[in-house]
Amino acid sequence: HAISLVPAPASMEQSEEAFTFTADTAIVFQKGNADAEATALFLAETLRSSMGYPLPVSARTASTTNAVVLEIETSTELGAEGYRLVTNKEWVVIEAHTAAGLFYGVQTLRQLLPAAVFSKEVVKDTEWRVPGVRIEDKPRFGWRGLLVDPARHFFPKETIMKMMDVMALHKMNRLQLHLTDDQGWRIEIKKYPKLTEVGAWRKETLVGHLTGKEEQYDGTPHGGFYSQDDIRELVAYGAARHITLVPEIEMPGHAQAAIAAYPELGNVSEPLPVLTKWGVNPNIFNPAESTILFLQDVLAEVVELFPGEYVHIGGDEAVKEQWESSEAVQKRMQELGVKDETAMQAYFIARMNTFLKEKGKKLIGWDEILDGGLGKDATVMAWRSVEKGLEAARAGNDVIMAPTKYTYLDYYQGKVKDEPLAIGGFLPLKKVYEFNPMLEELSLEETAHVLGTQGQLWSEYIPTPEHLEYMAFPRACALAEVAWTPQEQRNYDDFLERLKTDLVRLDALGVNYRPLNK
Ligand code: ACM
Repeated sequence: HAISLVPAPASMEQSEEAFTFTADTAIVFQKGNADAEATALFLAETLRSSMGYPLPVSARTASTTNAVVLEIETSTELGAEGYRLVTNKEWVVIEAHTAAGLFYGVQTLRQLLPAAVFSKEVVKDTEWRVPGVRIEDKPRFGWRGLLVDPARHFFPKETIMKMMDVMALHKMNRLQLHLTDDQGWRIEIKKYPKLTEVGAWRKETLVGHLTGKEEQYDGTPHGGFYSQDDIRELVAYGAARHITLVPEIEMPGHAQAAIAAYPELGNVSEPLPVLTKWGVNPNIFNPAESTILFLQDVLAEVVELFPGEYVHIGGDEAVKEQWESSEAVQKRMQELGVKDETAMQAYFIARMNTFLKEKGKKLIGWDEILDGGLGKDATVMAWRSVEKGLEAARAGNDVIMAPTKYTYLDYYQGKVKDEPLAIGGFLPLKKVYEFNPMLEELSLEETAHVLGTQGQLWSEYIPTPEHLEYMAFPRACALAEVAWTPQEQRNYDDFLERLKTDLVRLDALGVNYRPLNK
């Protein structure tokens, strides 16, 4: 079989020195190294299910032969996530400076084997041959992300885990969970149980697009949430795959589910339901001190659950009409001496930034957090345009490039008449592939602020796990290559050729991707 690695490695030389697994092949790790041992156990488990070989895992000895060897090296030359993989007739050797690097070497090894290796059942009569290669590889960007939105349509934790399996195979390492929005609050918060008792459930859901007249609703209640134990399970599952979960708790907009549960967080006196339609809506959090403290209590529980460095606080699409007409908000603005509603939001975000910093975390927000001034220590997710990312990098903020134009995987990927209903837009596979997150206008110093890129799977029109996979793949495979492979080595036709084999892998994994020639 031809070599079809996705994402393509930074460098690869082929040789005649192929390695073939047998019933006696062992997986060995460098003695005393817990990272190498954990990765060895992961590799053995994944290979056993299809090969049916025992694949014993043990520490390397002087007489080791017929083995996959995992070693941590002290040299930092391969970086925080890079690896070297070399095959010969006796061994496959994977070396890296870190556990993450070894893990990515293991993903490459899986992809070097026949695609049948991804089968969940034993596949007989296959030659488990690894072609002769010497690969030295490391990622272009440190942030290689996807966003999943269980707020609009709830997905069971098993769906999130399967997404992480496919992400890991493509060397993606950040999964943002959009946990709160107008239509649902999806994370248990012990101090405020009504957030999920009330906020996790909506009466029904809009059918089709919002038209402004004679809307239809499905009459079916929808909801669900992740308990704190579920979250811990997801975090651990991600950690085993070197995927960091990034929680998103939206504020001050996209807040109606929380306000439905605790009306004092809002700006109007009438009670609000959890929202049943989509779109930007005016029911946002008020900026009272009590609300800020409430949300900080929420974040305090969130940071305990998610060990990653970053917490996303949303910040997008907060329409200010209720703040403009609220006496209480206007009085608060006067007391604080903030000049307008945009500055009020900047104050709100700054309070969260300080709070998260005290907890040892970093704040991320959508690019609207730039409006009205932003601390240099906050990270900006540029979604409205690449230029917003440029603006953030020039202002000295770190930025993740997530522009609608190239990374909104909720957009149509083919002709509207041939596709299931989507939110709108048009983002075919080729366009995702053509994205270069590093703009030529950036100075060397500014480029250091570009952490990477992320694909968004907003789920207003993604009601099921199967549909989520259909929207995600293979576009996320293209984005994985955008984020990993050196720009000068990327070529769309070559990618398409390799992708054919990658889709056979996804078939074996039971992923409902969109076929190439649909
Ligand atoms: C967004 O799509 N409102 C971040």
